[in-house]
Amino acid sequence: MTDLGRADRAAALRLREAFLDAGFTADGLLSMLGASAYAALGRGEHVPSRRALQDRHGAEAELARLFVLGDTAERSDVARHLPLDDLLALGLVGGGATLRALVDVRPYGESDTDWYVVSDHGPDSSGHDVGEVAADHVLGVGGASLTLARLTPRTPVDRALDLGTGCGVQALHLGRHAGAVVATDRNRRALRLAAATAALSGQQWDLREGSMFEPVVGETFDLVVSNPPFVISPGHRYTYRDAGLPADDLGRLLVTQAPARLADGGTAVILANWLHVRGEDWRERVATWVASTGCDAWVAEREVQDPAEYVGLWLRDAGGHADDADASAEHDRRYAEWLDELRAMDADGIGFGWVVLHKGGTYGAQGPRIEDVASAPRQPRGDEVASLVATRAGWAEWDAFALLDARPRRAEGLRLVEEDRADSLGRLGPMPPRVGIVDGWRPDVALDSVGVHLVRQFDGVTSLSDAIDSVAAAYDLDPDDVLPGALLAVRGLVEDGLLVLDRDDA
Ligand SMILES: C[S@@+](CC[C@H](N)C(=O)[O-])C[C@H]1O[C@@H](n2cnc3c(N)ncnc32)[C@H](O)[C@@H]1O
Repeated sequence: MTDLGRADRAAALRLREAFLDAGFTADGLLSMLGASAYAALGRGEHVPSRRALQDRHGAEAELARLFVLGDTAERSDVARHLPLDDLLALGLVGGGATLRALVDVRPYGESDTDWYVVSDHGPDSSGHDVGEVAADHVLGVGGASLTLARLTPRTPVDRALDLGTGCGVQALHLGRHAGAVVATDRNRRALRLAAATAALSGQQWDLREGSMFEPVVGETFDLVVSNPPFVISPGHRYTYRDAGLPADDLGRLLVTQAPARLADGGTAVILANWLHVRGEDWRERVATWVASTGCDAWVAEREVQDPAEYVGLWLRDAGGHADDADASAEHDRRYAEWLDELRAMDADGIGFGWVVLHKGGTYGAQGPRIEDVASAPRQPRGDEVASLVATRAGWAEWDAFALLDARPRRAEGLRLVEEDRADSLGRLGPMPPRVGIVDGWRPDVALDSVGVHLVRQFDGVTSLSDAIDSVAAAYDLDPDDVLPGALLAVRGLVEDGLLVLDRDDA
């Protein structure tokens, strides 16, 4: 049994009301703790919050102490402010005269929602020594969770799948724009906590236990999202982190298996790690993953870490204390073993990024787009991902003839910079002319003088062929010589969201 029974669901609803009445929400917590203590919580530092709560009483302070800080509370105090029987029935607290939260319950939400995410206490979340986390540890909302949540297109869909739901954070977001949400995990404990997340947040999902796509064989979805256990590590120590597969096979398998589970027109957004193998271009490695999918693919690499940085990060992530000699020796042994394993793979780096697959009638027309986005000023939002996907899906309608007749227009917020000023990353000149979107997510694109001339022409009225004639006349060139470069430039600028092609022109 993974989902809650009727009685537990009713208890969860009563608790939700009690939490909301108490003001135990993301906004409520922020105003009670103050911005500095609230921000420190995000770094796993609890002292500022503990001080802020020192003289506070009442339901909200009690809830924050129990569920956010992991502190104990007197049973009588809890009973005075909260429906204690419901907290006990759902397994959120335990103990005798002194109660302790058995899980972390964190207010979370979009700007107009209040949700509660139930997870295990992190290695540092109680501020007490909980040591190394358990093998079936269920993570709370972390950096990768937020990355995926921001990237995911929020277009309304019928059916959505969250593969590896954990605490259920992706499913919460999907619940707002998907008619039905299926959430899977191979960790049964994760599914129990996800069921509590759903119930406390007033949502209901179809929770299924199983590995990879096993629980959804034969089904299709309009949207698949996954923040899987992507860490490239020796063995299978933690279910939330290690897939127990060789090298970066988890990413490869998810990407190659996802298309069969996508409905026509469906999209998958998958976080992944991939190896940078000495002497091999990572793009070619990931290109082999997407080559056989029959889907259009966009792969973006946000960060690369060297092996020691990577191993250090993930060893710290799981907690445990290196302040006694045994633990320290064990930590060093694991560190060395992990580095050896990466060396045996000939890895000189590990890339982190995402793969977006789109199954549509015109897929594959352009070949996959595989790029390094490490220098991007920010991460793309779901609407920006959706627009790139839609643009690429529409390329088949835009052969060279259609493009020449098209009347491209500059996208809203387009900024053409021609003088030597700092670019969007703050680098100072000498700089070539460049074009970007104000507050856009991509770095500005450099243009040559022909490109600048073209962009100036694109007012939504002038056709590309007229713009090419105008450039050719201005620079004393043959229009036929300008044409191939102009077509390429326009395609690139449209994909980068800098130019817009209106459908009526197709
Ligand atoms: C990094 S956590 C992500 C949790 C959550 N979706 C988020 O975005 O924060 C990865 C989740 O995948 C689950 N998982 C691990 N191996 C899996 C597998 N083979 N199939 C399905 N889920 C798996 C883990 O139990 C864990 O809950």
